[in-house]
Amino acid sequence: MRANYKNWVPNGMLRALTAGTMILGAGTAALMCTKMNPNLKKAVAGAAGAGTLLCGAMTAWSFYAHGKFSYDGERQLSKEIVEGTAKYITLPADGIGLDVGCGSGALTIACAMRNPQGRMIGIDRWGMEYASFSQQLCEDNSDAEGVQNTEFRQGDACRLDFPDAYFDAVTSNYVYHNITGVSKQELLRETLRVLKKGGTFAIHDIMSKARYGDMQQFIRELYDEGYEEVKLIDTANGMFMSKGEAKILGLSGSSLLIGKK
Ligand SMILES: C[S@@+](CC[C@H](N)C(=O)[O-])C[C@H]1O[C@@H](n2cnc3c(N)ncnc32)[C@H](O)[C@@H]1O
Repeated sequence: MRANYKNWVPNGMLRALTAGTMILGAGTAALMCTKMNPNLKKAVAGAAGAGTLLCGAMTAWSFYAHGKFSYDGERQLSKEIVEGTAKYITLPADGIGLDVGCGSGALTIACAMRNPQGRMIGIDRWGMEYASFSQQLCEDNSDAEGVQNTEFRQGDACRLDFPDAYFDAVTSNYVYHNITGVSKQELLRETLRVLKKGGTFAIHDIMSKARYGDMQQFIRELYDEGYEEVKLIDTANGMFMSKGEAKILGLSGSSLLIGKK
């Protein structure tokens, strides 16, 4: 059995958008052939036509993004990001790492494979916007990769069910930008709360100013609190993806916050 990490643009979304475009297109054609007041017909068919174009554009974008993210495609962008983030996670012997919002388990498993001397716990709230991700899928993927030093649990990034300073390393990839109603810096704080002094972190997300606020100030605050090293790396500048690719995929501002507490 081969691991199946699924896709950040799920197949269900591709199917729904394709069906929506076809239904709207057929509706527009039917309206064009219907006898009705010409002005009303123009307005209704015009609106349906615009809806068809919009839905068609979203469908085309989704297929493009799906192809870029696919683990079977040529680009394999998700794999590059996950493996590039995992490189920054080092566990001591018998150490424990946390992956917040583990999805299909890709980053948890990548970190576990790089750190056979320790173990990784992946948590996720599963079942809301990414319906194809689940705890069972993570466990199956771990088995498929022949990895035994992983564990997966239901959990919420906003309130991690672990005591302060519990982990030797913490990581996360493209999770916090999905979470609304909480400040992104507070989410970072919650993740860093469970990290031990001296532990390492590698958190990748779309950290644009509009979403995350002033990250340089955040870094200064961490240094003031005694963190040993904190760095913010732009990953949409050739590291994981090109600027143009990031723009088209809606990933501009992608950055990796790395360091040692
Ligand atoms: C784009 S996916 C990324 C999955 C994984 N980190 C990866 O790199 O493949 C975002 C994930 O964040 C999870 N997520 C969103 N909000 C969450 C929350 N409040 N607590 C835990 N997980 C959350 C979703 O369920 C989803 O699995």
